[in-house]
Amino acid sequence: MTPLCELAIKHSCNRGGHHTRGGEPCHDYTPKYFKLFELSAPFVQRVLEIGVNSGAGLRMWAEFFPNAFIHGVDINPGCLFHEKRITTTQGNQGDAGSLIQALPVQAPVWDFIVDDGAHDWPSQKTAMLTLLPYMTGDGVYATEDLTEVESTILAAVPPAYAGHVYDIPNGAGGGSARLLIVRRKQYDGY
Ligand SMILES: C[S@@+](CC[C@H](N)C(=O)[O-])C[C@H]1O[C@@H](n2cnc3c(N)ncnc32)[C@H](O)[C@@H]1O
Repeated sequence: MTPLCELAIKHSCNRGGHHTRGGEPCHDYTPKYFKLFELSAPFVQRVLEIGVNSGAGLRMWAEFFPNAFIHGVDINPGCLFHEKRITTTQGNQGDAGSLIQALPVQAPVWDFIVDDGAHDWPSQKTAMLTLLPYMTGDGVYATEDLTEVESTILAAVPPAYAGHVYDIPNGAGGGSARLLIVRRKQYDGY
């Protein structure tokens, strides 16, 4: 159990921590994210998450990245909220123009972008191709809960970037879920 798994439990986020929430499966992405950011978390300045819902994920990131500004985008205006270091706006990840309009102007680039929104490949692909140019040089782009076949997903990753698909057994509730991590090629493996 990593410190990020503990934060997932604390904030009722189903990304990790082997807990169950309303009978939903609990994914186990947090050990992967913890490894990626174990050393750099205090230096991360901007995090963008697609998919706000209750705000559990945004609050988990805010505590894990103690110096970061966290922004969430969701198609549903009913789940938008603002808190210390957390802002949210309405946007549709399946529409590049809507997504760009949802980005705050004071945060042009992001250290970490995570897509936990629509969970359908056309929307996930649109978001990835739209937002990769808004990622810092050594940034990380994650897409959760993939449904498309791996070869199609990897073929969509632009040539300057390296992509990896991970099949991660759920921490509770059975089954597994797939996660795409994309970085610029020179940072692949870091
Ligand atoms: C699984 S929930 C997000 C959970 C959140 N990331 C967390 O960890 O607590 C998915 C969210 O994605 C939003 N969503 C669905 N389709 C979307 C789209 N096309 N664009 C943006 N958000 C979308 C839904 O409204 C919902 O709030």
